[in-house]
Amino acid sequence: MIRLNQIDKHYEQVVALNRVNLEIEHGKLVVLIGPSGCGKSTLLRVVNRMIEPSGGQILIDGKDALDIDPVLLRRSIGYVIQSAGLFPHLTIRENVAVVPHLLGWSKARRLDRADEMLALVQLDPHKFGNRYPKELSGGQQQRVGIARALAADPAVLLMDEPFSAVDPITREQLQEELLRIQRDVRKTIVFVTHDIDEAIRLGDKICLMRDGAVVQYADPDTMLRHPADAFTAQFIGQEPELKRLGRHNVGDFMRPGTPEPSLAGAERVGQASSARSALSKLLGGQSSLIVVDASGAAVGHVSLSDFAALA
Ligand SMILES: Nc1ncnc2c1ncn2[C@@H]1O[C@H](COP(=O)(O)OP(=O)(O)O)[C@@H](O)[C@H]1O
Ligand SMILES: [Mg+2]
Repeated sequence: MIRLNQIDKHYEQVVALNRVNLEIEHGKLVVLIGPSGCGKSTLLRVVNRMIEPSGGQILIDGKDALDIDPVLLRRSIGYVIQSAGLFPHLTIRENVAVVPHLLGWSKARRLDRADEMLALVQLDPHKFGNRYPKELSGGQQQRVGIARALAADPAVLLMDEPFSAVDPITREQLQEELLRIQRDVRKTIVFVTHDIDEAIRLGDKICLMRDGAVVQYADPDTMLRHPADAFTAQFIGQEPELKRLGRHNVGDFMRPGTPEPSLAGAERVGQASSARSALSKLLGGQSSLIVVDASGAAVGHVSLSDFAALA
């Protein structure tokens, strides 16, 4: 568990963080969200002491982070940034093995681990391991960034707008991947975004910030149903009922079974993709969608009437 008590950060006149209290339970994914400049990145970096707070206390599993050597602390916490931040002169496999290398793992062990992590993020190690970062797409580089952050099996993962620079379709895939990986590895994840739909899709809890302070800290459903104030309501925006659908997968709404041959030309969507984006496609004029499993096999179909229960 991570516990932040009365965290302040001042830069001369600027108050970047103002008495932040936050408790992040073990194994949960907490999203920090809020307008640009509200202190999200500062708060994230206080956790691994890339930024030293001006005041307050950081407890990680009961230990005061300010008593831990910051270099060791940073190695024990995974960190993923927007541009992946891969070392251009290292191969993909070497990039993933960086922290195990620093921790003194043997070469065989760290390269094995790198391959295991590449497979976890669904990059074939035989195909990608010896390539260099510039030979990968932006989305693939982000996957490598996640593999690298997980390589030394940290208990905590910090992610600062990791999917902000990729196209919307890749972004949805990366969100799905992260949810799947999180089911497997159960890390305590702090994830920064400025996208409310991403926050709703991913967060066990959402922490909405403004001017360096926490405005509301709640699970997505509570925040959507009971926004703390006008600022929160405005930040959530229109149609909170539709936004709630982002918590569900399309598989939750589909009619299972082999789709009829007449549907053969319909667009295909993954079972674990968001119900919200499936509904958008249906409202956009697709009459049905074929739902496929991870291997691409059709497992059902969905049309607008399947969402009628929501009305
Ligand atoms: N090194 C710095 N020196 C001065 N002000 C800073 C510095 N880093 C961040 N700030 C200020 O602190 C505030 C919070 O920044 P940041 O945490 O990066 O916001 P966010 O990630 O939410 O966009 C902003 O007003 C920013 O300008
Ligand atoms: Mg930021």
